[in-house]
Amino acid sequence: MIKKICCIGAGYVGGPTMAVIAYHCPEIDIHIVDSNNERIDLWNSDNLDNIPVKEPGLSKIISKVRGKNLFFSNEVDKYIDLCEMIFIAVNTPTKTSGEGKGMAADLKNIINCAKQVSLASKSDKIIVEKSTLPVRTAEKIKEILENNKREKINFEIISNPEFLAEGTAIQDLFKSDRVLIGADQTESGKIAQNKLIDIYKKWIPEEKIIKTNVWSSELSKLASNAMLAQRISSINSLSALAEKSGAKIDELSMAIGKDHRIGNKFLNASIGFGGSCFQKDILNLVYISRQYGLDEVADYWHNVVKINEFQKDRFSQIIIRNIETSSNQTVSVLGWAFKKDTNDSRESSSIAVTSNLILKGLTVNVYDPLIKINQIYHDITAYLEFKNINQKNITRLLKKLSVKDNLNDCIIETDAIAFLTEWDKFLNIKWDKFSKNQHIKNKPKIFDGRGIIDYEYVSSLGYQIYQIGNGDNSIN
Ligand code: UDX
Ligand code: ADP
Repeated sequence: MIKKICCIGAGYVGGPTMAVIAYHCPEIDIHIVDSNNERIDLWNSDNLDNIPVKEPGLSKIISKVRGKNLFFSNEVDKYIDLCEMIFIAVNTPTKTSGEGKGMAADLKNIINCAKQVSLASKSDKIIVEKSTLPVRTAEKIKEILENNKREKINFEIISNPEFLAEGTAIQDLFKSDRVLIGADQTESGKIAQNKLIDIYKKWIPEEKIIKTNVWSSELSKLASNAMLAQRISSINSLSALAEKSGAKIDELSMAIGKDHRIGNKFLNASIGFGGSCFQKDILNLVYISRQYGLDEVADYWHNVVKINEFQKDRFSQIIIRNIETSSNQTVSVLGWAFKKDTNDSRESSSIAVTSNLILKGLTVNVYDPLIKINQIYHDITAYLEFKNINQKNITRLLKKLSVKDNLNDCIIETDAIAFLTEWDKFLNIKWDKFSKNQHIKNKPKIFDGRGIIDYEYVSSLGYQIYQIGNGDNSIN
């Protein structure tokens, strides 16, 4: 029976996952460690509104387990040594330089963790890969562990990919569709696998716990995300066709989703998927396929990402061609998070769309209920740098950007409003009230990238609307 767990990485994956394990397993002490001191301080903050990951239900669980059997610390080495099972839940973003730039996963954090684990361990450890990793990463981790270890100890590596989606993380962890545990089919591999199964069995029905080999487990994570993203790119590609042909994408989604073999999930047309997983994992899949000489496979999956880029650009171009770019017009970008109910903006389509707008000389106001101003500037700067724009130009472009903390300001004083995140708050905008104070000539054009505007009603108030996938659009 495992009694002490250490989780390296106090982020979107490590935080909620360990909180839920701690909640269901009061007999296990869990220590979440992170090299980012500021993040650890926020997790330890007395005011639960300050914890760094915003997930419905998370602060309630933290209030029950923190200080009892869940602890946050920056003493990484100490807790590696103390615990029998080490989860690795560090970020593995797409590489921004070197071989595989823009495609392969950057394993720098994983490699550092493996080195740290091997140097700090004085007894046998079970290492659990939680971060999404390229296939056969466990082999690399094993190599690093074996090469750096100081004592004659055994490291067993198992893969237990996380399938939680942000915004529903707690719900997903409580009622997982499945828990995947991949291990070497050796004697010690099976023992480690069973130790982790015993933990999940506390609240997950046994039939939902799937045992595989390590490589199937690693590849399943990439494949699941690729298949989900593929559905979004499929519906987004059809949204362009619907606009041209007079069809309506929501009617199409409903009609095809009724076929139980297709199902109705993940068929909402949008400005493109964001988040830390989909693009990164597909690019990774593409990179790996190419390495194995499977160019057709690589090209097939790469197109899912290409359609996503197309959708972001298409949406930007529709705004640009309908707004007078020469006379310093303003566009309000509503929503910075990559989806509602999260404070995460990684790979959010808002970043690409806003960059396209400021690059065309438009002034952009941004409003998001959760994302902080510094993060917004950081995201745009990193994106422009990745696009090889020099610092002088970035400074000039950033002057075109202003972050607002009031939604109403973004509706009243603007030439266009672009909806990029489907926040519930945006569903309650009092268009009739705004409409009375906006002369027809001053009414902003509305660009709905999430299909959240009641098209008929808002049009009847005199607004011109572009809605993704709507063949009736008054703007196109
Ligand atoms: C995803 C997977 O769902 C999860 O299983 C995995 O562990 C991590 O990656 P996440 O990135 O948190 O989770 O969000 P998800 O809900 O999948 O949405 C990803 C993106 O797709 C968002 O930008 C969302 O707005 C977009 N999306 C989703 C659509 O555009 N249309 C849809 O129908 C569904
Ligand atoms: P994810 O969505 O994968 O959880 P996050 O960026 O939210 O990604 O969290 C990952 C966390 O891992 C960050 O807080 C980061 O500081 C931490 N981290 C990365 N590398 C290391 C390391 N070598 N040691 C300790 N913590 C690390």
